[in-house]
Amino acid sequence: MGDIDFGHNKTIDESRQGEAITVETITPNGKKLYLESYGCAMNFSDSEVVASILANQGYETTRNVDEADVVLLNTCSIRENAETRVRTRLHDFKKRKKAQPGLVVGILGCMAERLKQSLLDEEKLVDLVAGPDSYRDLPNLIMDVNGGQKAVNVLLSREETYGDISPVRLDNSGISAFVSITRGCDNMCSFCVVPFTRGRERSRDPQTILQECQTLFEAGYREVTLLGQNVDSYRWNMTSKGEVKDAQLGTVNFPQLLEMSAQVNPDLRIRFSTSHPKDMTDEVIHIMKKYDNICAHIHLPVQSGNTEILTKMNRGYTREWYMERIDSIRKIYPECVISSDFITGFCGETEEQHQDSLSLMDYCEFSFSYMYTYSERPKTLAERKYEDDVPEEVKNRRLTEIIAKQRHYAMVTNQRHLGQIQKVLVEGVSKKSQEELVGRNTYNTKVVFPKGDYEKGTYVNVKITDCTSATLIGVVIE
Ligand code: SAM
Ligand code: SF4
Ligand code: F3S
Repeated sequence: MGDIDFGHNKTIDESRQGEAITVETITPNGKKLYLESYGCAMNFSDSEVVASILANQGYETTRNVDEADVVLLNTCSIRENAETRVRTRLHDFKKRKKAQPGLVVGILGCMAERLKQSLLDEEKLVDLVAGPDSYRDLPNLIMDVNGGQKAVNVLLSREETYGDISPVRLDNSGISAFVSITRGCDNMCSFCVVPFTRGRERSRDPQTILQECQTLFEAGYREVTLLGQNVDSYRWNMTSKGEVKDAQLGTVNFPQLLEMSAQVNPDLRIRFSTSHPKDMTDEVIHIMKKYDNICAHIHLPVQSGNTEILTKMNRGYTREWYMERIDSIRKIYPECVISSDFITGFCGETEEQHQDSLSLMDYCEFSFSYMYTYSERPKTLAERKYEDDVPEEVKNRRLTEIIAKQRHYAMVTNQRHLGQIQKVLVEGVSKKSQEELVGRNTYNTKVVFPKGDYEKGTYVNVKITDCTSATLIGVVIE
């Protein structure tokens, strides 16, 4: 899953509370909560769970940090610079606390889990530390802080999925929402901190997932993204070896969940992220092709185009395996677009190995990629076993080359769409012009077109007339 920057504050969209806890029926406690989210979509989705748990205790969310009684930062540890940004922000809040001594400042998410008590003891930056599996405990933790103690809960769980909690939607779009289907990750890629910060993988009860999709549809949403670090390993009531856990209950795997989600309503678009190359089966591609409302886009992070590097990364596949997965997608569902993630300058990466990433990009023609230089993370297998020996300037130069190639293939992908009539879900007014609307096609590309009187949340047919590498431009065909 790409690293989405939700660094800006997100607050409860009061017009969209129907499906979540009915805030009107809960007596406000007079306290205001300010939430800031960093990192991936999972974190953003978790913030909606946090908002729900605290709304249930009477907390109202606010966008205005000046009126907040509780400030919570939901943080990311994926790369060092993600943590640096949060630290800077925490220092801002430390200053603020001097002027407002009763203010509760807490850190949630992956950085909280990674650094635990040290954030309280050594750095004295916060009053409260809560890891990703302890959000149900937040009301108690805040109470402890108000009672003059520091509070910490970083226990990871094998069961917690927050499946029964109706998230309070924090974005203002009212059109597209994230629905979490798994938590944690069992893959142990050698560069990655997520298994340490999120714990063991577990799947959420499918009934609660489908109910959430249904509720979202009834509230006017028209797109959901099923979220997990590796959606393909979604398994309800099954062990990782496929054995049934409870004979009284049925089992559900990812293709089945995808199909059931598509059946919620033909007007509800389904996306999913992230697929793992070692686990993504042809069955998934067949289900995608079968349903018009499952979007024709697979995010399939490769990380590197070289088998030796992939082995050191512990990714569980080779260059050839990945290419075979691409061939399968092209054979079964030729219209489907594919996007990816890359890391440049992983331990020991040679110039030739870097060239293999570039040549793989030529083979795959990704529509989009998230691209990063390698950042060594404490306690990971790579940190313990390999030397982070590629100089920063080499990592950066390789990244620049990867970015340039990606830009080329994004343009190639978009040019292929010229002249087509595409179904676009209208998301709202374009940021660049009040006279234009913006939406997305099934391939997850932004489409901009003249406003007319089309409404947010409706589908329109747009003839694509022009493009940049990031955006398609067109006109609505009645
Ligand atoms: N579960 C997803 C997968 O397996 O592809 C990825 C999740 S991770 C949150 C998102 C991306 O961050 C990864 O695909 C990888 O490209 C990047 N990433 C993770 N650890 C990194 C590290 N130590 N340095 C640089 N990039 C990293
Ligand atoms: Fe990290 Fe690998 Fe799990 Fe993705 S699959 S979250 S990269 S360990
Ligand atoms: Fe996501 Fe960052 Fe954690 S990418 S899972 S918030 S380390």
